[in-house]
Amino acid sequence: MKRIGLLTSGGDSPGMNPCIRAVAREAYARGIEVVAFRRGFAGLLDNDFMILTAEHTSGIMQKGGTILLTARCEDFKYEEAQKEAIKNLFKNGCDGLIVIGGDGSFRGAQAIAGRGVDVIGIPGSIDNDIYGTDMSLGVDTAMNNIIEAVDKIKDTASSHERTFIIETMGRGSGYLALMSGIATGAEAVIIPEVRYDLEKIAARLKDRYRQGKVSNIIIVAEGASTAYQVGRQLSRIAGIESKITVLGHLQRGGSPSAFDRTLASRLGSAAVQKLTEGFSGCMVGLMKSEIKLSSFDTVFNNKKELGPKLIELAELLGK
Ligand code: ADP
Ligand code: F6P
Repeated sequence: MKRIGLLTSGGDSPGMNPCIRAVAREAYARGIEVVAFRRGFAGLLDNDFMILTAEHTSGIMQKGGTILLTARCEDFKYEEAQKEAIKNLFKNGCDGLIVIGGDGSFRGAQAIAGRGVDVIGIPGSIDNDIYGTDMSLGVDTAMNNIIEAVDKIKDTASSHERTFIIETMGRGSGYLALMSGIATGAEAVIIPEVRYDLEKIAARLKDRYRQGKVSNIIIVAEGASTAYQVGRQLSRIAGIESKITVLGHLQRGGSPSAFDRTLASRLGSAAVQKLTEGFSGCMVGLMKSEIKLSSFDTVFNNKKELGPKLIELAELLGK
């Protein structure tokens, strides 16, 4: 293997940059050049690339986002675009490709794998909804961002004896909401994995009022509802007024945490190693502290569960 392609795709996540650095350095140590495509699959289609040099990857360990830029590219779902991408990979002498992104990006990666190019995926998405890895790149940093914000809101909520409803990201997964709820001591967490009962939440808040506890934090994953919607419902059902904070994209930014930097370094290096060993159509992930390979089929055909114990814990500790 003399040249491999690299791209970041889908929503960015803190940890993509240290991962790009690890891929580049592991590849160079093996005498392999890295052809880095800009804006994910869009760059692969437009043949928009740069050859990564040591200068490109120096000083990026601590940077959030991705120096390669990322994008969502609808065209890539079609055969014609995929053929064009493979042509570009061949034209640039790449017999391998590394895709850093979420499971949507891995579907694009799988469409290329086995057609003359070996492909390895690296899980990068703050949602932590990718099967085959305990943690994806960016999750830990996003969690820290959320916790920092919720702690600040808690200060003002306590001073004013208010109820706050805070919305986190997570289109299809309540991981960020659930774990940040546990980590901040939120009174209630609303996630897509569990049918929520606002009557029950309202009763709990009223019970707390009777005990003199008048400030509350409710964390809502965007995949379950919106904070505004929950606020309106609480007001209607129980006459409880609330303040709303939608955390939005601040969750996805910032310097990667120690955990994300080390995970990114391990996964980036492992992805290059696995490519040189001839693996393809797989994702490298972290399982029980070890780097493990899972086929894309395994990743697609299994759902990453939150686990009832964590859900029960959030419920118990929020009482
Ligand atoms: P993520 O990778 O974060 O899950 P998306 O689901 O938005 O993000 O997917 C990112 C990109 O991956 C899409 O814009 C598209 O280019 C590519 N992609 C997603 N689904 C497919 C698919 N079924 N076939 C081919 N490419 C896909
Ligand atoms: O998939 C990662 C994610 O951050 C989701 O949690 C969120 O719903 C989505 O991306 C937001 O995407 P965009 O930045 O395109 O609005």
